[in-house]
Amino acid sequence: MPQHPRHRWLRWPSEPGRPRLAFGADYNPEQWPREVWREDMRAMKTAGVNIVSLAIFSWARIQPRAAAWDFAWLDEVMDLLHGHGIAADLATATASPPPWLTAAHPEILPVDRDGRTVWPGARQHWRPTSPVFRAHALELVAALAERYGTHPALAAWHVNNELGCHNVYDYSDDAARAFRLWLRRRYGTIGALNHAWATTFWSQTYGDWEQVLPPRRPAPGSYPNPTQQLDFKRFSSDALREHLRAERDLLRQYTPDIPVTTNFLLMGDTRGMHYAEWAAELDFVANDHYVIPGPQGLDELSFSANLVGNLAGGRPWYLMEHSTSAVNWQPVNKAKAPGELARDSLTHVAHGADAVCFFQWRQSAGGAEKYHSAMIPHAGEDSDVFRAVTELGATLRDLAPVAGTPREPARAAILFDWESWWASEQDSHPSDRVRYRREALDWYTAFLNLGIRADVVPAHGAWERYELVVAPILYMVPRPLADRLEAFVDAGGHLVTTYFSGIVDEHEHVWLGGYPGALRDLLGLRIEEFGPLLDDERVALDDGSTGTLWTDRIDVVDPATEVLVRYTTGEQAGRPAVTRRALGPGSAAYVSTRLGPAGLTPLLATLAARAGVPSELPAALRGAVELAVRGAHRFLINRTDRPLDVSALAGPGRVLAPRAVMVVTS
Ligand code: GAL
Repeated sequence: MPQHPRHRWLRWPSEPGRPRLAFGADYNPEQWPREVWREDMRAMKTAGVNIVSLAIFSWARIQPRAAAWDFAWLDEVMDLLHGHGIAADLATATASPPPWLTAAHPEILPVDRDGRTVWPGARQHWRPTSPVFRAHALELVAALAERYGTHPALAAWHVNNELGCHNVYDYSDDAARAFRLWLRRRYGTIGALNHAWATTFWSQTYGDWEQVLPPRRPAPGSYPNPTQQLDFKRFSSDALREHLRAERDLLRQYTPDIPVTTNFLLMGDTRGMHYAEWAAELDFVANDHYVIPGPQGLDELSFSANLVGNLAGGRPWYLMEHSTSAVNWQPVNKAKAPGELARDSLTHVAHGADAVCFFQWRQSAGGAEKYHSAMIPHAGEDSDVFRAVTELGATLRDLAPVAGTPREPARAAILFDWESWWASEQDSHPSDRVRYRREALDWYTAFLNLGIRADVVPAHGAWERYELVVAPILYMVPRPLADRLEAFVDAGGHLVTTYFSGIVDEHEHVWLGGYPGALRDLLGLRIEEFGPLLDDERVALDDGSTGTLWTDRIDVVDPATEVLVRYTTGEQAGRPAVTRRALGPGSAAYVSTRLGPAGLTPLLATLAARAGVPSELPAALRGAVELAVRGAHRFLINRTDRPLDVSALAGPGRVLAPRAVMVVTS
């Protein structure tokens, strides 16, 4: 098989060299009669749509029975699209197996932790490790690749859809078999597994691989082995990645020149898929993002987009889905306010997206997502949503010169580590209130409040080039990571870490000798006991801030460790709350409680000043505006809900979306 260069962007059917941003949606023509398809083409042209994701949930339509194929409708849609100059990101259609398949092969249905079958009737009811499902899925992929591999509209392949959104954890017998194989590859011998899983505890020692199971429902009030739980999370992410690889490899056999992607769901609390490991599998990274309502909603969008941009290695990525207005899966689904559609879209562009797409093109009249917004809402084209969509299309046309330009790296970074996320929130810990991503987001908000750009980067990526690195709740620190952090500080870098960091190795075994184990010497402190707080407990700090969730009983053990802030109340009153150990020009700081954005903002101002990392915004705009830089374009994103005067930032600026985003080109 030929070698495939990674990170290939869309294959545009026409004028491949012309810079442009992709704009479009999931397009589900199978939900509509044919007459509507022509209306769709006309309206897509009006809106400036140049690409759609097609056939994502079309398996039952393409293959209505085991040996029956119906491509006529898809041929027509592909031709129609091409005739209108619209490219297709064609799905492999494997996301939702049709009823004939699950009826004939109920053994493809996932099984939950309690041994209950996950029944068809919704979607993604398939086991990632089922050989039967895999064979049927690959048959479909091959049929599509054969039929459309040379179609002129084809710009990219879209593997499945949001792999793992609903099926990441499957406890079936297929999963048990695959888990054992995965463990054998990881550990080699059952003895090594017994050591890693600390099976001397609670009489869990295994004599043979066949005895090992997924962490199914344990005795009430008890906990499955923690390393078994953690390995099952690692395995489950890998099992889906295997599925992705299987579809991708087949597509590449048929169409070596067509890029392959799949849409990540890097947003909010979605955590099962280790996207830092998945990103390298794709020709380009694609993500779906939906705004989570609340005071940090926009910050969370920016955080996610920022991390996706870094997973993409600074190269362009594809925003596969977001919403024009309301979603349908929150308890209460609010419409977007005027300006938000453009602001949200352009925030993704500011962080490196070269494609802005929505779920979905035309709002469904029936089915489970009929109350989810779309580019054409129920009200039709005569609607504020469609007008805003059309305006955005024009804006993106104007922004074509941005396409292909890299994000400019910041001087500061936040480390993001899936393994610490998974492990720090496992059960049977000092507190079940620890929230890894929330802590990371709080630091990001603090950076935004100060007008200091910070990249969100995977912990296993190349972060040594940053001057200031914040590693919140870096709970799992295997020796090589500890060595890297030490070398970083030795070389003059400034590290900031927080409570519940440096505690365990890769097997979730505690580093002994006092916390924070792997980082104890680097931070110059020693903790004998954690001091987690009850929900209603607050502790005061002598810088005026308030801590919640956690405290530590810290002893400073190195003369170079300075106490920056002390507790004034609670069990640790008088003891250090925030410390900083200077090491030549570098430093290692520790924050032992949860301060939230309000407390972190002034503290980070101090830490950043001492690290020599300045704000990039004039004082009047700090906090009100987010700055993101791509090549010669500086994006100023309005974080407030009022119009802002950004004239303090001189330059030939253009307000792209009134009240939302300004772009300054230099
Ligand atoms: C995504 C999914 C889409 C649609 C959308 C609604 O998770 O890929 O098919 O369900 O959510 O927000």
